[in-house]
Amino acid sequence: MKKVLVTGGLGFIGSHTVVELQNEGFEVYIIDNLSNSKIEVLDKITSITGVKPSFFNIDLRDKAAVKDFFANNKVDGTIHFAAYKAVGESVQIPLEYYENNIGSLVYILQEMKANNLNNFIFSSSCTVYGQADELPITENAPVKPAESPYGNTKQIGEEIIKDATKISELKAIALRYFNPIGSHESAKIGELPIGVPQNLIPYVVQTAAGLRDELSVFGSDYNTPDGTAVRDYIHVVDIAKAHIVALKRLIEDNNKSQFEVFNLGTGQGNSVLEVIKSFEKVTGKKVNFKLVARREGDVTAAYADTNYANNELGWKTELSLDEALLSAWKWQETL
Ligand code: UD1
Repeated sequence: MKKVLVTGGLGFIGSHTVVELQNEGFEVYIIDNLSNSKIEVLDKITSITGVKPSFFNIDLRDKAAVKDFFANNKVDGTIHFAAYKAVGESVQIPLEYYENNIGSLVYILQEMKANNLNNFIFSSSCTVYGQADELPITENAPVKPAESPYGNTKQIGEEIIKDATKISELKAIALRYFNPIGSHESAKIGELPIGVPQNLIPYVVQTAAGLRDELSVFGSDYNTPDGTAVRDYIHVVDIAKAHIVALKRLIEDNNKSQFEVFNLGTGQGNSVLEVIKSFEKVTGKKVNFKLVARREGDVTAAYADTNYANNELGWKTELSLDEALLSAWKWQETL
């Protein structure tokens, strides 16, 4: 049985990926410091798959603990999700973002190298493209100056990994996610925003549930068909499955170079108003909203060119926006 370390394995995308890894017969080791997740997720994962993953409550900024983990666990691959991810917060506390997102990454890569462990998957983001000059966005689109320390940690993270592949046997894939949304069909795991949600779907869902009075739609004067910003919303289960495909590519030595980058998106752009309409249609719930000013740092439109990932990974999305929105709602109903 192949062993995989999933850092941040109790988080939103991490937990869904653990489930898919277990479904594919991998033995999963989770490292999570519970800074933005709950320990109950471990039992939820177990109740979905029937197998309890090994769990290590390790803070990846603790270099000695990282060293100890890799010395004692010869994993066949590492999928690294653990990171801070709130764009606005990163502007307020940039040094914590750099310490956590960059420091941890460096420690993991150092200890993987020390133990000759060579397969690494990194959570990156379409934020590296900024407002792309051409749509849909291919992997060859230039990386634009980061709008936030959070975005910068993803850009720097990719650079660090690329440099590491030049001086070692490390093989790495950076997966640039567009907008991951939705929940597992069991409604046992999902996105757990702490405090007021910053991202669209959690805010929509909480508004429909009556927890928030009104959604603010940020910007209605964009150069898009209905004036609201356009994104590529992708079901988290599709994202999770792409990680298994990418990991197998490295384990089976099917990668074309030591550092590869793939977009994970549906290829379809939807506006904020389209998302609200779809949500109301599939759930029968009303979402109160008002049109307000643009949010600083937001781009007009971003959606993926999926050809490279589809052809090279042999992966494509299977779930629709409607399915993703309905699953997000079903998850909210369990909370
Ligand atoms: C954001 C980050 C991105 C990060 C991703 C996941 C920015 C610029 N980008 O993507 O780097 O990887 O979250 O954490 O912050 N919207 C509203 N009202 C709301 C919330 C959002 O209208 O209350 C709009 C936004 O203006 C945007 C769209 O909904 O047009 C999607 O927003 P969001 O879910 O926050 O994702 P991104 O901003 O695309």
